[in-house]
Amino acid sequence: MDVQENPLDGWNADLYQDKHQFVWEYGGDLIQLLNPRPSERILDLGCGTGQLSQQIADFGAEVIGIDSSPKMIERSRANYPHLTFQVGDATNFHFDVSFDAVFSNAVLHWVKPPQAAISCIKNALKPSGRFVVELGGKGNIQSIITVLQSLLTENAARPPVDHPWYFPRIGEYASLLEEQGFRVIYAACFERPTPLEGHLGIQNWLKMFTQVWLQDYSETEKQELYQKAAEKLKPMLYRDGIWVADYVRLRIIAHL
Ligand code: BEZ
Repeated sequence: MDVQENPLDGWNADLYQDKHQFVWEYGGDLIQLLNPRPSERILDLGCGTGQLSQQIADFGAEVIGIDSSPKMIERSRANYPHLTFQVGDATNFHFDVSFDAVFSNAVLHWVKPPQAAISCIKNALKPSGRFVVELGGKGNIQSIITVLQSLLTENAARPPVDHPWYFPRIGEYASLLEEQGFRVIYAACFERPTPLEGHLGIQNWLKMFTQVWLQDYSETEKQELYQKAAEKLKPMLYRDGIWVADYVRLRIIAHL
């Protein structure tokens, strides 16, 4: 099947790459924490359209990127044909040759159960390997979630569906890693107000990232929800002509 026609792949690689560059631009800092060294073998878990995989490869590392979305992998391969990208599920992946490091930016808040992903990551690492991760932390995009939840609850004809994300507290995620044998050597949780591009910034964000949450809603219903959500969010997230999403980040380095 042409990947563009796969109905199970809700990701829009064009919208991601054209309007949400901030995802990998902020990820550049995380690469400093990864500190890739020449000829290290590094897995980019949830590589999206491949920009951070390329930045890691620029250090001379051998990089493999995996993502659950065939559309994202198709785009990664088109962007960086000299790198290796594969479709893979973060809760169920295996490699015969192990890695020096697993890197993951802004992906693992989509992945449940988190223990299954941590187990695969551990199994993919060499005995002295490291895991460097950023994901949404407790309170991430809280105003967006609260507004959408209240709009969904207003519609008496449909029972509201819970949001699909996992935004753990720092201690919770560190404990999950420790339970599987990792040593957490760095952990930080911080607010990172994130500017969105253009006057339709919040609508584009909702269109891009609520596909899974609103999968049972028609296009017309979704457009109406985006419009209403933007009106309600404006006093909270629109400042000096710019939409700013209320991101909270969790960054962790864990060693085996
Ligand atoms: C995040 O990067 O925090 C995020 C992005 C999209 C949906 C939810 C969270």
